[in-house]
Amino acid sequence: MKLRPETALTFDDVLLVPKKSAIRSRHAVNTRTWFSRHIPLAAPVVSSNMDTVTEWSMARMMARLGGIGVIHRFMTIERQAAEVQRVKRTEGFMVERPYNLSATATVQQARDRMDELHIGGLVVTNDSEDVLGLVTARDLMFERNAARPVTEVMTPRAKLVTVNAGTTMEQARDILHEHRIEKLPVVDADGRLQGLITAKDIDKQDAWPDATKDNRGRLRVAAAVGVRPSDLDRADACVNAGVDALVVDIAHGHSDLALNMVRKLKERFSHVDIVGGNVASAEGVRDMVDAGADAVKVGVGAGSICITRIVTGFGVPQLTAVDECAQVGRELSVPIIADGGIRTSGDITKALAAGSSTVMLGSLLAGTDESPGASVVRNGQRFKVVRGMASLTANIERKEIEIGREAEDDDWERVVPEGVEAMVPARGPVKDIVYQLIGGLRSGLSYAGATSIAELWDNAEFVRITSAGKAESGAHDVQTR
Ligand code: XMP
Repeated sequence: MKLRPETALTFDDVLLVPKKSAIRSRHAVNTRTWFSRHIPLAAPVVSSNMDTVTEWSMARMMARLGGIGVIHRFMTIERQAAEVQRVKRTEGFMVERPYNLSATATVQQARDRMDELHIGGLVVTNDSEDVLGLVTARDLMFERNAARPVTEVMTPRAKLVTVNAGTTMEQARDILHEHRIEKLPVVDADGRLQGLITAKDIDKQDAWPDATKDNRGRLRVAAAVGVRPSDLDRADACVNAGVDALVVDIAHGHSDLALNMVRKLKERFSHVDIVGGNVASAEGVRDMVDAGADAVKVGVGAGSICITRIVTGFGVPQLTAVDECAQVGRELSVPIIADGGIRTSGDITKALAAGSSTVMLGSLLAGTDESPGASVVRNGQRFKVVRGMASLTANIERKEIEIGREAEDDDWERVVPEGVEAMVPARGPVKDIVYQLIGGLRSGLSYAGATSIAELWDNAEFVRITSAGKAESGAHDVQTR
């Protein structure tokens, strides 16, 4: 029997030893880090590619908060691409390919389209996309004749202030202010519509100073893909929708299937980062990086909803897995994402101290307003569902999409789940949770005498604790209220 001599550890087995610190306030530390080789983040948090955690709403807020979200893949290719596009469209001071309205539309059609798209203005164009005018909610507000052509109520081209695509945000801000207007169509030299700048979008730029953005000012977003040939189509659709990173999502990432997929994606897309995973060993990271991965996701069986270790006997306690993998990650300059098992800000500090660059969060975010699905009330308390992507119901739903019919008894019996379905308390807006988590991490950095995550890697010293030490670590010997 081959047996490693050292004992593998996880978060609750250790604590960090406080170090001499010159830091006066937790605001004096910075939490900047890298999600992948080319994507910097202001906050080291990533929302998990689970169908109860990340769709566009979560991904948008994670990026606004300085982290990033990975949109899960358990939906049609078209829908996943639309989710990516929705994040990319929401912020950026210039909307590219803005929604437009045909010059033949009526007032009623303009109202309907604005309602449907939840927007307050539409550029009116002809079939060649020449800008003819701009119609806003205000133009329509008191119009009694719903059948009136929109061209009669819009601001016509001659009176419209427009700019070209080279306009900077500061210039646009000045023009909007000077003319006391809220929308600025962007046109090319021939007067064709190229984009739209709105006062609201410029305002939003200031609201989220830490937001994770691409070089065109749009929020960044990642998307998960599997390892089947059809996943190349999925990847193409997500890349066309503007995705910044693709995450190869497979439970046993140290496999030819996953490595080949990373290789193929890397060859196909030069400007998109490819994240490989999941692995739990140094060789796993080395092979992933050899295949071209720009970041490696680490964690096998550590997740709150995972039963992989029970069902298969495989896995490595997460802190040891992260430590071992991060040593190779540092050697090869590739960020490590610690995925699974994070329950508190203390766990985040420990995972980073062990060498990861970010942490991926599942159940911790599943109860927030931005996670998919509605909340339910049980015994007077509000909950949301979280489920493992290898759980029984997740497996069956995937099967049903694949076979195009409802699953039968046989299909249910054939599933060997490696995850569970569960409930987590509803926890309100994700920004409040992330604020607490990053606040805790900032304190953690100051206890380590570290002003940055890189300094935390250097300064961190762990001690192993016993069950008595663990009991001492929480509130104890008092009646909590
Ligand atoms: P947390 O602890 O943050 O973990 O909820 C989230 C991570 O768990 C992984 N995951 C699974 N692992 N069976 C598994 O063994 C599953 O069904 C499953 N679903 C999710 C995944 O890495 C996720 O980010």
